[in-house]
Amino acid sequence: MCGIVGYVGDGNAKDIIIDGLKKLEYRGYDSAGIALNQKNNLVVRKKIGRIANLEEMIQGEDLTSHIGIGHTRWATHGAPSDVNSHPHLSQDGRIAVVHNGIIENFVELKKWLTEEKGITFKSETDTEVIAQLIGVYYEHDLVDAVYKAVEKMEGAYAIGVIAAEEPDKIVAVRRDAPLIVGLGNNCNFIASDIPALLKYARTIYLIENNETVVITKNEAKIYDMDRNEVKRDVFHVTWDADAAEKEGYDHFMLKEIHEQPKGVYETLTRRLEKGGSIKLDGISLTKEDLDKINKIYIVACGTAYHAGLVGKYAIEKFARIPVEVDVASEFRYRDPFVDDHTLFIAVSQSGETQDTLAALREAKNKGARILSVVNVVGSSVARESHDVFYTWAGPEIAVASTKAYTTQLICMYLIALYMATQKGTITKEYYDHIMDELKQLPDKLEELLKSEKQIEEIAKKQYRQTSVFYIGRGSDVGISYEGSLKLKEISYINSFAIAAGELKHGTIALMEQGTLVIALATQDKLYDKMLSNIQEVKARGAYVIGLAKKSNTAIEEQADDVIYIPDCADEVTPVLAVVPLQLFAYYIAKLRGCDIDKPKNLAKSVTVE
Ligand code: G6P
Repeated sequence: MCGIVGYVGDGNAKDIIIDGLKKLEYRGYDSAGIALNQKNNLVVRKKIGRIANLEEMIQGEDLTSHIGIGHTRWATHGAPSDVNSHPHLSQDGRIAVVHNGIIENFVELKKWLTEEKGITFKSETDTEVIAQLIGVYYEHDLVDAVYKAVEKMEGAYAIGVIAAEEPDKIVAVRRDAPLIVGLGNNCNFIASDIPALLKYARTIYLIENNETVVITKNEAKIYDMDRNEVKRDVFHVTWDADAAEKEGYDHFMLKEIHEQPKGVYETLTRRLEKGGSIKLDGISLTKEDLDKINKIYIVACGTAYHAGLVGKYAIEKFARIPVEVDVASEFRYRDPFVDDHTLFIAVSQSGETQDTLAALREAKNKGARILSVVNVVGSSVARESHDVFYTWAGPEIAVASTKAYTTQLICMYLIALYMATQKGTITKEYYDHIMDELKQLPDKLEELLKSEKQIEEIAKKQYRQTSVFYIGRGSDVGISYEGSLKLKEISYINSFAIAAGELKHGTIALMEQGTLVIALATQDKLYDKMLSNIQEVKARGAYVIGLAKKSNTAIEEQADDVIYIPDCADEVTPVLAVVPLQLFAYYIAKLRGCDIDKPKNLAKSVTVE
């Protein structure tokens, strides 16, 4: 969701900010804008649509400036439009604000500003309230005015503010929405996320909640709510600048699909000791802690939720602890049964998903131990957890999650195996067998990616479909959900996933001549049952694409097309089975001419409930 970039330094602020905004496109947005200070005047340019529209609008204009703020907006209050785009100005045009998040009491504040202060609002946004509020409090001291405004503001937000009269500084505040500071050479930055800064600054400050930041060309200072300066250790970013580039691939999604062998390898091998035992950096759960736990919740949204479904299989099978998997937006409102014998596992790529964060807080308040599986270092979910287990996927830019998912699965296996060894619920032979299977996954993923051409050919036959069904059994059910989500996210085809055994209880009524069914049959012990399910849909005219292990060729008798994954143990098939489904969704979307990396209406990091 909304992205913020701010720059102050010797360079050309406009170009640097627009470049940074492009690196935040992955967050999802529907308009973009920029505010620059030119000779003590604020110049704002903003435009609905892609950043390219904004660039086209300002082409040829002299917008030279050394300080500015920029924004990509994902509409919440007020439709996407030029006027609702950020930055927003105070009535006198002397304060400009960009904002990510929601001001919950904006109606009340707007009323006060209109009725008591005579302000006329131009937009329908909650953000304009912030600009007007700071404008009302402004008396030649931006920091003071921001502090006064923030006292009145309720909600979750990160803001960046500049004032016409103070062309040397940007003031920013973080409360429950991501904000970092980048320290450059003769320049400093604020941003929502690291990719925006990769080209310019590798040393950053991770800003904490309720902190205010003041950056000038040569200084970056952090203050707490009482205006006391806070010292912060710097964080060095190790990703190279290419991590946020497409490197020859047509789309980030395809690049990220191909990065999965590496991501899986990194996530796995960094946690293995020489002797094969697991070293869970960031997790301090002891045997005593685990003995106390009688219930586990895995809570997440979207793709991360689907990783949780596989996590349930792994933890229940290896560690014999009951696991419930819940979507975060439901968990917190159903008064879940949580106490100090509960382990709450939050799974989140971004670590900023508001629903996941709110569920985590609910569980924490009720006494649960919080473990999170997160990709973004220092994100809110990571910071609020007792234990953090990082997926080493690297930056994921495409909105549709791929490599974050497969690395989340690896984390789930490692957590489950670790718990099992601590609790003594797994034999050494079985542990070694699964570990061996996990270690072979990077090579098997490489082998699997060679089927790309075949999958593209299958996609060419199917891209005009209007609906697609995914079916599977056992851990293939979770993978069916994920495959279906991928397809609908990026190709806008109506797709639906269901446990194959459940088909006959209703959904089979929808099967007719030519209906496309993708049947996942990767589980040896459920293979025959799946073949029967395929027959059932074939008998009603369905066209079936089957997915099975290389040695299980009987499926060729039933299915119209078959995609094979390398042979492996049933327990680890999810890591492989999802990849053809990602590629299938990718090629279908490509053939339909969709905007694959930035699908309509979607945001990568959903920071509103
Ligand atoms: C959004 C994204 C999904 C993602 C979900 C959870 O809906 O579009 O791709 O799976 O949020 O995000 P998280 O960062 O918590 O994994």
